Amino acid sequence: MTSRTNAAIDARRIAATPRGVGIGFPIYAERALNAELWDVEGRRYIDFGSGIAVLNTGHRHPRVVEAIRAQLERFTHTAYQVVPYESVVSLAERLNRLTPGTHAKKTAFFTTGAEAVENAIKIARAATRRPGVIALGGGFHGRTFMGMALTGKVVPYKTGFGPFPGSIFHVPAPIALHGVSVDDSLRAIDKLFKADIEPEQVAAIILEPVQGEGGFYAAPPAFMRALREICDRHGILLIADEIQTGFARTGKWFAMDHHDVVPDLMTMAKSLAGGTPLSAVCGRAEIMDAPAPGGLGGTYAANALAIAAAHAVLDVIEDERLCERAQVLGDRLKARLEGLRAKVPQIADVRGLGAMVAVEFAGADGAPDPEFTKQVQTRARDAGLLLLTCGVHANVVRFLFPLTIEDAVLGEGLDILAAALQA
Ligand SMILES: Cc1ncc(COP(=O)(O)O)c(C=O)c1O
Repeated sequence: MTSRTNAAIDARRIAATPRGVGIGFPIYAERALNAELWDVEGRRYIDFGSGIAVLNTGHRHPRVVEAIRAQLERFTHTAYQVVPYESVVSLAERLNRLTPGTHAKKTAFFTTGAEAVENAIKIARAATRRPGVIALGGGFHGRTFMGMALTGKVVPYKTGFGPFPGSIFHVPAPIALHGVSVDDSLRAIDKLFKADIEPEQVAAIILEPVQGEGGFYAAPPAFMRALREICDRHGILLIADEIQTGFARTGKWFAMDHHDVVPDLMTMAKSLAGGTPLSAVCGRAEIMDAPAPGGLGGTYAANALAIAAAHAVLDVIEDERLCERAQVLGDRLKARLEGLRAKVPQIADVRGLGAMVAVEFAGADGAPDPEFTKQVQTRARDAGLLLLTCGVHANVVRFLFPLTIEDAVLGEGLDILAAALQA
């Protein structure tokens, strides 16, 4: 039998699986609990990535594990579209209540985030009978064809995979740090309406209220309000992609709760279901009902184990007051990073909503510094801390630790981070 070292398994991975599925860290997981993970060699890591924003309630939260176990004893799969079950109906009812806006809503479940995005666009097109969709530069919406088309970053997501679905347009995201103002972005939409597509042919504008893969840039409230106004003026639907921002990460249930604007449709996935594959589209009832019966769904859509996990996740967020906890954790992290600015001149920006915090690095000339970012990530990994990067220039470290992380484990992680930044 091959020895179970990281190196030995990684050699087998390279031979057996394609390089297109890139690997962040060639350490092979053996087990994990809350914010800690152990590899096959018995080495412990503190996990500040949460499986890319999936584990706001931590690895194997006991209540999530128990909910899945209980469901396993009943049934795992009927195909909801063939034989439905009540837990889906009650989860839809919960999400319809929790999401922004008091209007009548409906929710449909899918499996991955990209699938939720695909279906949000299908629903928007069916409801408006229009083809066009506007998305933002730097945005990320998944790896399916519509997801790729909407994504505003070519390498590595779109390289070699075209042609993409048509009638998709991008405008620059308003990021003051990079010299793009709200007015610049709005002018770009105006130009689009003059040069490329008339507003009456646009079904939807989709954006992440805080860009995830793009670099943790929060949409300014004035931009969100202006988008709502443009949408209302032209009969366009506003879609908030909350796949990375949802479920208490930003200090509220959803990032849109930070805005006085309500989206027509919202996509959710990741931390919705504590590590099981589940996604959702929630929106105005009349819009959600536009596709005809059979137009939406999927064999695994609303998988029973994932639905059970999601109910437990919502219970945990409520009972452990994770929205408040996210704010406390985010404030603590930001204070620590701000305190390091004087010693680490590469820190160009520290930002975040709640616990959706990032630190951006630039060189003395102000240019993005992806090399330093990679060094910080590698040094942290060597010292037992898993960090994720992001940003169009790969010069941002983003923090996504479980909101259930113990104070001591967070403190230990922050000490490793501080050392990695100053090494
Ligand atoms: C905002 C956003 N939308 C869509 C997706 C795609 O989700 P999935 O990888 O589950 O398909 C992601 C994943 O990172 C995301 O962050």
